[in-house]
Amino acid sequence: MKDKKKSNQPFTLHLGNNLDALAKYPDQSIHAVVIDGPYGMNSKEYNVQELAKQYLKGENYLLGGKGIVGMDWDSDLPTLALAKELLRVLKPGGFVVCFAAARTYDILVFTLRWAGFQIKDQLIWAYASGVPKGQWLENQAEEVEGLAGLNTSLKPAVEPIVLAQKPIPKGVSVLENYEQHGTGALNIGAVQVTRKDGETRYPANIITDGSKVVEKGFTGGDSNFNACSLSILDELLNPILYYSKAQVRDREFGLDKHESEIRRNALFSGNDTDFKNIHPTVKPLALMRHLVRLVSRPGDIVMDCFLGSGSTGCAAILENRRFIGMELNQDYFRVAEARILRTVELKEKFKVSDPEQLTLLAELEEIETAMQKVADSVLKDPKNKVHHTKLGTLEIKRKVCLSNLKKSYPIAA
Ligand SMILES: C[S@@+](CC[C@H](N)C(=O)[O-])C[C@H]1O[C@@H](n2cnc3c(N)ncnc32)[C@H](O)[C@@H]1O
Repeated sequence: MKDKKKSNQPFTLHLGNNLDALAKYPDQSIHAVVIDGPYGMNSKEYNVQELAKQYLKGENYLLGGKGIVGMDWDSDLPTLALAKELLRVLKPGGFVVCFAAARTYDILVFTLRWAGFQIKDQLIWAYASGVPKGQWLENQAEEVEGLAGLNTSLKPAVEPIVLAQKPIPKGVSVLENYEQHGTGALNIGAVQVTRKDGETRYPANIITDGSKVVEKGFTGGDSNFNACSLSILDELLNPILYYSKAQVRDREFGLDKHESEIRRNALFSGNDTDFKNIHPTVKPLALMRHLVRLVSRPGDIVMDCFLGSGSTGCAAILENRRFIGMELNQDYFRVAEARILRTVELKEKFKVSDPEQLTLLAELEEIETAMQKVADSVLKDPKNKVHHTKLGTLEIKRKVCLSNLKKSYPIAA
């Protein structure tokens, strides 16, 4: 296992198994854990009797094989051993936020409870981009009557996120615990939602991808989203947070200077071979920033022991937290390290926390540096038309970049 702690950096990253890395951390040393671990969407079914037997012996229950994204690392949910380690390193009252799949959520929650966590809430992340993976029975046996409309599953449109808490010791109030450890209460004030009429409201435990279809789905039904219409979710009365699934700009954030031969493989999208972020399950930065803000405060130590391409780490840095990350796979680790390092660099340089804005500012800086170089060449060789053409192209790029900045961030630009 390799550890990378650069002096003066607000983060430490571990390449290797998270259990080995966690063993290095003292009891009660972490404020919050935000993880997007394996979903355990295995083709094998969970046997809860077997699981209970293993847990009674204090041992893990593992299915093995491959998970739904076809990777070895995705076959099993976070284990009992891991949950116990998280309980040990967290400060009393500290929170764990962990993503799950609708189908395997119960096992994750049970494991956390068994390890000693209290379950505080279930957050729902709703999105429009889920692809139905069920099979039509009529396609399998045309000769059998009565199969029309029969399918094996629903279109996925939500991911549940468990919010668990390390118990506050008996006889200690939340306030006393907070005074001693800085943990125990949710940072609701930092995640308030602004309504359409400009008023701020406390956030609901539903987070959506911000797409119009999902918005409509919650407020009256939409043909693409296929949600049951929940009229109690009146948008004005119950503000919902909107965070879209990771877009290209989002997943590639922090990789503008990253040199790598490896590109995203064709497993998930045949044409996406140009992406430097090779991870198949990248989470949106806005969503991760929201979760980091909810369970910690600036300066706190936030940990993600299933780092992937480092989205939680980037989010933690953007939110002025210290960060600890762990990742098993060397290729993912390199991407995560590059993204997190670049986030620190960009944030220090431009003093803003919005990743889109940081990307545009970095682009602008690069264009202006290139323009300066070409302008020097023009001075040395004024008759060279190539230099003039290059300068013209760069000037257009600069205008586009400035206009994008002004559109999204009028004051900063
Ligand atoms: C769902 S992905 C996280 C993706 C991440 N949220 C992102 O936005 O890129 C889970 C990651 O956990 C890693 N992993 C699985 N088991 C691990 C273990 N025992 N120790 C460390 N990392 C592990 C996998 O390699 C995978 O990259």
